[in-house]
Amino acid sequence: MALDLSTVLGLDIGSRYTKLVELRKSGKKIELGRKLKVETPQQFEEIPAFIQGILRDHFTGLPQPENPFSASTLVLGMPKSQITLKYIQLATSDPEQIHKALESEVRKLLPFPPKDITFSYHLQKRLLNKKAQILLVALRKDLLDQYTSILKEGDFNTRILEITPIAQINCYLYNYNPSSRESIALMDIGATTTTITLLKEELLRFSRDIPIGGDTVVTAIKDKLNLDWERAAAMEINPGIALTPREADETAREIYYALEPILDQLIIETERSFKISYYVDHPNLVTPQALVLMGGGSRLKNLDKYLERRLNVPVIRANPFNKIETPGEVEEDNSIWSIAVGLGLRGLVEFPISFNLFPET
Ligand SMILES: Nc1ncnc2c1ncn2[C@@H]1O[C@H](COP(=O)(O)OP(=O)(O)OP(=O)(O)O)[C@@H](O)[C@H]1O
Ligand SMILES: [Mg+2]
Repeated sequence: MALDLSTVLGLDIGSRYTKLVELRKSGKKIELGRKLKVETPQQFEEIPAFIQGILRDHFTGLPQPENPFSASTLVLGMPKSQITLKYIQLATSDPEQIHKALESEVRKLLPFPPKDITFSYHLQKRLLNKKAQILLVALRKDLLDQYTSILKEGDFNTRILEITPIAQINCYLYNYNPSSRESIALMDIGATTTTITLLKEELLRFSRDIPIGGDTVVTAIKDKLNLDWERAAAMEINPGIALTPREADETAREIYYALEPILDQLIIETERSFKISYYVDHPNLVTPQALVLMGGGSRLKNLDKYLERRLNVPVIRANPFNKIETPGEVEEDNSIWSIAVGLGLRGLVEFPISFNLFPET
């Protein structure tokens, strides 16, 4: 029997770390190949050459016995900060009418001349009310060109530019296989930004950035306790955020008071996101069934229990390799790889929603 050996590389360019994971589908299994985390250059212009260097040094050449695969598909993530997303219901399913309606919607969303913007959409029909449910992605053409130039690097047969909120969703769907009716909130806490994405009945309903991340937390600990960055970052993992600050030792208590205003803001913005999203079509259902944490910033110790208590929603730390075969041991907290894995899976598995913003040649 011929083996299905599709291989893909998921590329997540974060503000602090660039993460790459190589995944291979073999029959029904998905296996992890190489994975790499490197600091991202601070100037965007340096990124194409930086990616070219990584691909050349780590992901090309003849497959080695210890590195058995080399990817034929590259999936790059377009961050939420670069796009405008909107969930829209229309009373028509006619493609021409949809296109017209979206053109005028895009002009309202982005204050740029029509020649400078572009859009794409996912259409899902609801059988009961015959309305078309549409997820619209609009963005500036110059930003699309920047990401396209990165994606052109390397030697790949297939190139996909997916949006990272969809990678958040796909990473969770593949690894945890929730029922299609569930409402889930996904929170990717990066270095500088937290992206909250709400999934309901297999559709992305809402996605939004909050300017808080792991670096915000480390900076607050560093300033409060007068530490260098490394020692403050270690405090993020231990002791983390105390659950009973009155009983904690003095250091843990100081950290608690340094982090409290940041976490308050995160909670206010999260509750606001739930309200905005759920009010649209279910005013009586204001909270999702679960909140799923991803991203390096979610490693703050006790954050899951803290959020669970304050938001009154079950909180899960997602393991992006839950259903992926990994060679040997992988670190206990894998949250930093979630987006890269979600991107890679997009090249191997069918998902309810997918985009490819990479212009056809
Ligand atoms: N073991 C770890 N390795 C790297 N970063 C860690 C670790 N533990 C915690 N962190 C924190 O996680 C953050 C980096 O996470 P991540 O790579 O998800 O961010 P990013 O994708 O670069 O940022 P953003 O999504 O905001 O653009 C940093 O703030 C760092 O302090
Ligand atoms: Mg990130």
